[in-house]
Formats: sequence, structure tokens, C-alpha cells
Amino acid sequence: MLIMICATVVLWILSAVVCVGRGAHDPCHVQDTTVDRFNDGLTMVISANNEFAFRLYRELSEPSDSQGQNIFFSPICVSLALAALSVGAREETHQQIFNVLGFNDFQLSQSDVDEAFCRIVKSKQAREDITAGTAVFVDNLFKSQPEFLRALKQFYFAEYFSVEFTKATDAANTINKYVSDKTNGRIDKLVDGLNSSTVLYLLNYIYYKGKWPIGFDPALTKLDEFTVDENKKVPVQMMKIDKHFSTFDEEIGTFVLNLPFSNSFSMLLLMPDNMTTLENMISLTRVTEWLNVTESRDCGIYIPKFSIKTSYTLNDVLKEMGMTDVFDHANLSGISKEHNLTVSEVVHRAALDVDEEGASAAAATGNVVFDSCLKQDLKFNSPFMFMIVERSTETILFMGKISNPNL
Ligand SMILES: *[C@@H]1O[C@H](CO)[C@@H](O)[C@H](O)[C@H]1NC(C)=O
Ligand SMILES: *[C@@H]1O[C@H](CO)[C@@H](O)[C@H](O)[C@H]1NC(C)=O
Ligand SMILES: *[C@@H]1O[C@H](CO)[C@@H](O)[C@H](O)[C@H]1NC(C)=O
Ligand SMILES: *[C@@H]1O[C@H](CO)[C@@H](O)[C@H](O)[C@H]1NC(C)=O
Ligand SMILES: *[C@@H]1O[C@H](CO)[C@@H](O)[C@H](O)[C@H]1NC(C)=O
Repeated sequence: MLIMICATVVLWILSAVVCVGRGAHDPCHVQDTTVDRFNDGLTMVISANNEFAFRLYRELSEPSDSQGQNIFFSPICVSLALAALSVGAREETHQQIFNVLGFNDFQLSQSDVDEAFCRIVKSKQAREDITAGTAVFVDNLFKSQPEFLRALKQFYFAEYFSVEFTKATDAANTINKYVSDKTNGRIDKLVDGLNSSTVLYLLNYIYYKGKWPIGFDPALTKLDEFTVDENKKVPVQMMKIDKHFSTFDEEIGTFVLNLPFSNSFSMLLLMPDNMTTLENMISLTRVTEWLNVTESRDCGIYIPKFSIKTSYTLNDVLKEMGMTDVFDHANLSGISKEHNLTVSEVVHRAALDVDEEGASAAAATGNVVFDSCLKQDLKFNSPFMFMIVERSTETILFMGKISNPNL
């Protein structure tokens, strides 16, 4: 079983119009555009999100102190939070958000983006394996633009809560309880303390619970070694699976394991000869090819059991990518005209557990005999990258790197 969640938080500190059309039956389709254009809009937003995923990954793996660190985040969750924020942003502030998210590369309008996220979030409602959503906590004395809240509700399925931010502890508890409920307790404390000048708190979350079609047999899980670098080996519990889609990508010297879940998602595990080469060369085209891998190998495949939790404050990374105004002299007049708002923090938290549990009771394996293993066993026993992708749309939900499974 595998559980991943993330919550992205954007919060505004006090010291700033989306016109919603009517018509089409699809509640997400409100612009006066053809169905073709509507579908193209979705495809373009997903492509932009995926390109953003790779850029954000590179930013997060850039700092020298990230050497040897695990990386894990949900690019779609970050895009969703920033897109929701862009609804209230104007002029240069808006341009910068659209540039960073790559929407300007596709000449997408705010309505294109809103409609696409509406469909993305809608497809993840009322499901057991994945939940995604938005919540806005607004101070009871703060007057926000009704259009902003309406658009957030209509396109981003936002739940709205009125809180008293001057009672900082109560407000923090309310937010923490909400996130904990939405993520089945995996993220139990999102905010530590709230700044008393907070007026609005925007939050996005994704909770994903994937099940392997066949569980790994826990009896085959054995203590083994993971090579962190030349000088360091750490003990790990290695799970064994048999017969799965995998290939070796010659061009970038990377073992690729394609593990489909019982639902419409797949996990790709990528173990390179040289991590730098993989990190520089990974692209959407390759991901598409890897998802297509259906060769299976008759050798044992071993992957470590692991569990990670990450927490990022993305302010500096986003500034580095070009989103500076929103933190400093923002024009957020689409959220409120009466106050000068700036974003104080963009926090992203994500968690992931990978273990043996599958959809059907485990121990379904073990009755297959492998005596035809001509090649070597494939063992994920050195740093590897991984991602969870929705197969039909090729949306990257989660992406990361395990440098040390014991961190
Ligand atoms: C709240 O945030 C502002 C801006 O970041 C900062 O100047 C102020 O000191 C903070 N107040 C508290 C009580 O932390
Ligand atoms: C990995 O590849 C990069 C260039 O892509 C190279 O600079 C580096 O030396 C390689 N590392 C190892 C350990 O071979
Ligand atoms: C996916 O696999 C099919 C069948 O093997 C092949 O025809 C197709 O070109 C592949 N697509 C990509 C993007 O590699
Ligand atoms: C913010 O943008 C709005 C809409 O374009 C504009 O009317 C307003 O003057 C801008 N505010 C500032 C402080 O630049
Ligand atoms: C907001 O900022 C503008 C320009 O910086 C200033 O003229 C205005 O007084 C400020 N408004 C409030 C409510 O602080």
C-alpha cells in the first residue's frame, strides 16, 4: 500500500475579477468556447503542470545542502494552490504566477486555467483512493471580494470557513483539525502558530492511497543494504516482487520499473547509474515512454519499504523562479480592494508510505516459480527517483527522490 498526501498553504498577511459566465451543462465549462478548445485547455494546463514539476524538482534538488536529502512533493498540489491564488492576483503579480506555472507558454487565460483545474479536482471527488480539494479560512472581519470566493468555490471546490485569526491558537487548531481530517491523520499539524496579522489562509490538499494489484508477500521482505554513497551503507527492509514491467533506458543508463496500481495510477521507480544524468535528462517524453513499458522480466525485483514526510517553505524557490511580487508589493486586488495584501508563506507538506499491502490479501505470490532468471535481479538499493502518474491524462501527482530510505 502506498499513501501520499500533501497540503499546500498560502497565507496572507494584512498591511487587494473573475467574471463567471453561464451556459454549458458541464459546471466546469463556463467560457463561451467550443468543446475542442475546452479539452485543449485541459491538455495544455496538464502539460504546463508537468513541465512545472520538473522545474520545481530541479530547484528543490539544486541547493548543495540538499545533497543526500530525500525530496518529495506534489507538483499538482503546488500548481493548484498557486492557480487558486492567481484568481485574485492582478497585473504584474498575476503575470509572474502565470510565468512560473508555465501557463503563459501556452497562452492560457485565467478562465482556461480555472476550467481545467475544475475538471482535475472534480475527477478526484467522491473517490476512496484519492481526494483533492481547497479550503479558504477567512477572518470574520476581513472583507474579501465576493467574486474571488465564488470562483474558488465554483472551480476549485473550495470549502469556506470564517475564523477569528486574532485568536491565533483557536484558528490554528481549526486549520490543523481540518487538514488532519482530510488527510486521514497523516498530516496532523500543518500550522504551528499563526501570525496575528493573518487575514486569509488558503489551503490545498491531496490525499492518495494506492493499492498494489497484488500485495507483496511480507514473508519475502528481508533486511538488506542500501548504498547511500561510496562511503555509506544503511540497512533497509527490502520487499520482493516478481514479474513486473521494467526496462533499462540505455540512453540515460536508468532502470525503470513501472508499477501500476489497481486504479488508474502508476508508480515509476527510476534507478540511474548516475543521478545527475537522470535529473538533467528526465522529461515528459521519457515519462510517456516509460509508462508504456510492458516488458516484464522474470527476475526478482526488490524495492525498499520506506516512509517519508517533507515540509517545504517555497518562498525562496518561487522567488528564484520569478514569482517575487506576491511576497512583497503584490497586487491582490481581486481578493480585497480595501487592504494591501501580500503572501507571507507558501508551505508545502507531503507524506508517503510504501509497504507490502495490496488490494487483495497479500501472499498471493510465492506460487510462481522462477527458474528462468537469466539476467540479474533488479534491486533498488541505491538512490532512485520515483513518481506517481495518472495514466490516462499523464498528470504527475507526486515526484521525489530517495537518497536514503532511513532519513
Ligand atoms: C507577522 O508577519 C509580519 C510580516 O511577515 C511580521 O513583520 C510580523 O512581525 C509578524 N508578527 C508576528 C506576531 O509574528
Ligand atoms: C555523473 O554525470 C555527470 C554529468 O552528467 C558528471 O559530471 C559526473 O562526474 C558523473 N558522476 C559520476 C559518479 O560518474
Ligand atoms: C507505446 O507502445 C505501443 C505498442 O508497443 C507503440 O506502438 C507506441 O508507439 C508506444 N508509444 C510510445 C510513446 O512510446
Ligand atoms: C492593481 O490592479 C488593478 C487592476 O488592474 C488596478 O486597478 C490597481 O491600480 C492595481 N493596484 C496597484 C496598487 O497597482
Ligand atoms: C495601499 O498601498 C497604497 C500604495 O502603496 C497606499 O497608497 C494605500 O494607502 C495603501 N492602503 C492601505 C489600506 O494600507
